[in-house]
Amino acid sequence: MKVLLDVDTGVDDAAALLYMLFKPQYDIVGIGTVCGNVEARLAAENTLKVLDLADAPDIPVAAGAEKPVCGTWAGRVREIHGDNGLGNTELPPTGRSPAEEEIEDFYMRLADKYSGELTLVTLGPLTNAARTLKKYPEFARKIRRMVMMGGTVAMRGNVSPMGEANVTGDPEACDQVFLSGMDITAVGLDVTMKVRLKREHMEWLNRHRSARAAKAVNFLNRALEYYWYGNQMQNYCIDDCPLHDPLAAMYAGTTGILRTETRRARVECDGTYTRGMIVTDLREHPIPGGDIHFAVEADADRAIREFLSAFWEE
Ligand code: BDR
Ligand code: CA
Repeated sequence: MKVLLDVDTGVDDAAALLYMLFKPQYDIVGIGTVCGNVEARLAAENTLKVLDLADAPDIPVAAGAEKPVCGTWAGRVREIHGDNGLGNTELPPTGRSPAEEEIEDFYMRLADKYSGELTLVTLGPLTNAARTLKKYPEFARKIRRMVMMGGTVAMRGNVSPMGEANVTGDPEACDQVFLSGMDITAVGLDVTMKVRLKREHMEWLNRHRSARAAKAVNFLNRALEYYWYGNQMQNYCIDDCPLHDPLAAMYAGTTGILRTETRRARVECDGTYTRGMIVTDLREHPIPGGDIHFAVEADADRAIREFLSAFWEE
């Protein structure tokens, strides 16, 4: 499947990208970055370094929005992703350079080139997608399907009572994307909080990893050390962490991992405590909005095996 990936790399974005690079069913044709866990420019640099780790081919990477559609960016999420976004793991400087193209033009050019074929996978705030839709409304028709990591329907939030980081990072953008008419599946905290990568999973992987995945697994060991600790402090996880971004990536290319429910949805863009909350309307005559597929149930065991399978010896 052809994938257009949007990331704010980030430890779990890096894990999702590595998973996709090691699984043959994904053909990533372009990557855009957005401010979220770190600045878009740093996310692009991190992404290029992760491509090096996997000895990936020359996938174009473009740095996108440095601020949300409305308001200001909240700054780096150091407590979860470290000072550099990669759990303070230093990777060698990259010889690759980011593409010199405006993000909207980059996305629309790829959507035209692969018209009707692209799966848009977003693992950060939806600013780049919203900006592209504003400049090129026809982008929505050219995309086959969109899978986003973000939101929560029935879970609590992770940055506010009902707010998940990617949606709350740019609620206006997410609301505009919901209204675009694209076929959208949201993989949110309802399921990602239940799919936990444990220390013992990585210990097992260290004994069974393929030679090809050695550099990637070595990096994951180091970056996850920080990420586990951050999740312990923020979410009271004990020696494990939710697989947010990898789960959305897995769902895009695999069947049988998640169950979804379709609901009419909007995003709350005001509110003292509710900005960034996803509001679904189950009434017979719901408010105008997008009919979004929300992941509501996960086969956690299967998801963990699927993730590890990218790196283990065949
Ligand atoms: C999301 O927020 C970011 O910190 C992660 O990379 C993930 O995309 C989880 O709420
Ligand atoms: Ca992310």
